[in-house]
Amino acid sequence: MLNPILLKLEEIADFIIHIQEEEFPIQNVPNLAETAAQFRMDPLSMSIIALIAASDPTLGDLNDVFFTTHLKKFTEKRRTPVTSALQKLEQFNLVYLHPNDRYQFKRKLQRIIQSGNWELLKDLVPHGVVPFLKNFIETTNSEEVEIYPRFQMMRSLDAPDNLFLEENEHLAMVKYYNSHLINFDHDEIAQQLFFMIIARKVLYFDTTDYYQALNGIRREDVKNFLNHYIINELWDPLQKGYFQFEGSDLVNEHITIEMTDLGVEHLLPELDPLMAEKLLDSTTVTVPHLKPEKIKDVKLIFDKEAQQLLHPVKRLMELDIREKINQKLGGYKTGVSVILYGAPGTGKTEFCLQLAKEFDMPIFQVNVAEIQNKWVGESEKNIYRMFRQYNLLKKQTKKECILLFNEADALLGKRVSVNSSVDNMENSLKNIFLEKMENFEGILFATSNLTGNLDPAFERRFLYKVFLKKPSKETAAKIWCTLFKGLPLDEAKILSQEFDFSPAEISNIKKKYEIDKILGSKLKRLTHIQSLCRNERILDQKSQSGKSLGF
Ligand SMILES: Nc1ncnc2c1ncn2[C@@H]1O[C@H](COP(=O)(O)OP(=O)(O)OP(=O)(O)O)[C@@H](O)[C@H]1O
Ligand SMILES: [Mg+2]
Repeated sequence: MLNPILLKLEEIADFIIHIQEEEFPIQNVPNLAETAAQFRMDPLSMSIIALIAASDPTLGDLNDVFFTTHLKKFTEKRRTPVTSALQKLEQFNLVYLHPNDRYQFKRKLQRIIQSGNWELLKDLVPHGVVPFLKNFIETTNSEEVEIYPRFQMMRSLDAPDNLFLEENEHLAMVKYYNSHLINFDHDEIAQQLFFMIIARKVLYFDTTDYYQALNGIRREDVKNFLNHYIINELWDPLQKGYFQFEGSDLVNEHITIEMTDLGVEHLLPELDPLMAEKLLDSTTVTVPHLKPEKIKDVKLIFDKEAQQLLHPVKRLMELDIREKINQKLGGYKTGVSVILYGAPGTGKTEFCLQLAKEFDMPIFQVNVAEIQNKWVGESEKNIYRMFRQYNLLKKQTKKECILLFNEADALLGKRVSVNSSVDNMENSLKNIFLEKMENFEGILFATSNLTGNLDPAFERRFLYKVFLKKPSKETAAKIWCTLFKGLPLDEAKILSQEFDFSPAEISNIKKKYEIDKILGSKLKRLTHIQSLCRNERILDQKSQSGKSLGF
């Protein structure tokens, strides 16, 4: 079948070679103007391409002498316009000078011309997000363009100069690159990694394997530098939340970096809306969290002693107080960490929730049991991920957020002497947690039923340690009164004397009472409550004798 592109190019080349006139206006070459327009090229460059396409070995070498000879008639006999057109084509990554002294097409152009498909010409000169990224991939990879290129940084650290950054400087990602990453140490690496992550996302809906990307780099100092910046998330795109990573450095050297929705929004506003939508669909990375407005209002009642301990914690939630404290302490750290520990059902978890509600702080709640994973390395990865997600949540919600390690006994207990791989894992989990606390910026709460055997290393790291014991009889009576509206104080006192319940148990009784009432119970209130309490006790004793609860 005839190839329409090739036919056109041959026609043009044929005319150029056979026209005898010394000077000939280039506009008069038949078909040249239209074809050049389709290639989005100037007529002179187009003529060079036509000559290469139609290359006939009998005409001699396809070198600059050949081109100037045949094209001089269009350029008032000057050679400079011809050589600069050639240079531009080389720079655009379309042609190159083969060692045998003949200009040849680069693969991309070759492919397009061979296809005979005029449509493909759209990608020829990398203008705009997609062509730019495609070109980026082709340039930073080897000559062979595979269907699914393995991404590797250049072995030499010289940034390729045919990335068309200048031609695309209007694009948001290029603007961001130019203003935030260009003066980064080893900026050639920053450049490659940055566009690689975006290209993989846009063109392949994929993440970037960090270590695979770095494979080509031999220099240890560069690797150390990168590890410092990237693993610690000091790199601007990670800090801004445009990129995020999964995995950890310490464990199995498997880290992937990917572009987030936030990144797509900020760095690719020019992207075709349909395509952007598809990208956003593929990563809805909104960190799951508890919204403060969804938290139910619960009135908590504490003993005087507990109130005194909790008061400063509450004050710490005010931003200006935190700032003042940080100034006073002369620290650069803005983290606040609080542990609430003690008897079950005393309001430890609920206190955190109510603070979040009052101060409009989203909560990222970590279930410590879920972090622990029997696979070596997974638990550690999980804990890194938790801290990263917390940081991401702060960025996404643009609010101060609470990181809540609920029921964190396993995490906070004393580190053990190592007897088994399980012990080892638990210790390394604790060590990572300790390390993360050291540099933590934000508000961290941990709750635990542990009383005695908190690891001393943790004790030091929590700014506030609040021990909550079971409330006194007086306080318990107040809780009875508050929960059962209209219950006289003397009846509440009878209940608190008779039943040594935790606040959570009292709140349970209240729920059952309401259910019974809906079901039509006609019992007198105090008698009704007492009977519910006795039942609760029996159940409680059964479960106590059935299995040890471990505290
Ligand atoms: N001090 C309190 N005053 C009033 N109600 C309370 C109090 N403490 C707990 N409650 C009630 O009990 C419920 C459960 O309490 P919460 O989950 O906070 O207990 P906890 O201390 O975290 O217990 P655990 O150690 O078992 O996790 C609360 O939602 C609330 O309704
Ligand atoms: Mg709790």
